[in-house]
Amino acid sequence: MLRCPLVVGNWKMNGLIETAQDLVDRVQAGISDREGRQRMCEVVVCPPYTALHTINSRLGESALKLGGQNMGVEVEGAFTGEVSGIMLRNCGCRYVILGHSERRALFGETDEMVSWKVKSAFRDGLNPIVCVGEELAERERGETLQVVERQFLAVLPSLPESPAKRPALVLAYEPVWAIGTGKTATPAQVQEVHHYLRGLLKKHLPDTADKVRILYGGSIKPSNAAEILAQEDVDGGLIGGAALNANDFLDIVDAIPDLT
Ligand code: 13P
Repeated sequence: MLRCPLVVGNWKMNGLIETAQDLVDRVQAGISDREGRQRMCEVVVCPPYTALHTINSRLGESALKLGGQNMGVEVEGAFTGEVSGIMLRNCGCRYVILGHSERRALFGETDEMVSWKVKSAFRDGLNPIVCVGEELAERERGETLQVVERQFLAVLPSLPESPAKRPALVLAYEPVWAIGTGKTATPAQVQEVHHYLRGLLKKHLPDTADKVRILYGGSIKPSNAAEILAQEDVDGGLIGGAALNANDFLDIVDAIPDLT
């Protein structure tokens, strides 16, 4: 098996300390049960910054991992409101979501800024989950593949020189029109874009293309997870709304095809 499947819960701006603790306790309990069944799958939750420290102290030796939802470029200094990669590591994070479409659309993040952050994430020892995806108008104009290619090429110069370090990169295809809308891309639409991204990886990073995981995100729920996760070039999911319900999130983890 070249790639270990990965399921990531992006809690977005949801969860006070108490509710976050409760949710993560339920997810963690479910993950422990699944470890007993030798499930081979990495599971990560990305709570708000304010809950990271508390959650980390509850995780202990759990297989459940932590991630941040964004990060600043610099290590430290006069950058009011920013949280650095080192700070995320300090709270137990191993992953960080970068370039989410909500960051791009609502907070003005450009391809260039996402690229800086990718470089910083590698510098700080975090696995970046780089989000790409087209808006509805771009899909309707037939520009989907061009958009994801542009977003992918923007981060390419920020990847480490050493091929051994590059498999830490995770890509997430999240069509903007499918996020939080209940509209999921069809399995065929998902596979088309993932296959294209795999081709770009092969072209530009031939040594590591088969090791980089490509996740799908956008209205994944227990009822549609299995057919999306079964697509050849889909290595897992980036889950928003359904990650806020422990049972739904665990059902999605269970929808990962069995590894034999
Ligand atoms: P939903 O699963 O709520 O559509 O959100 C997807 C997402 O944006 C994950 O990062």
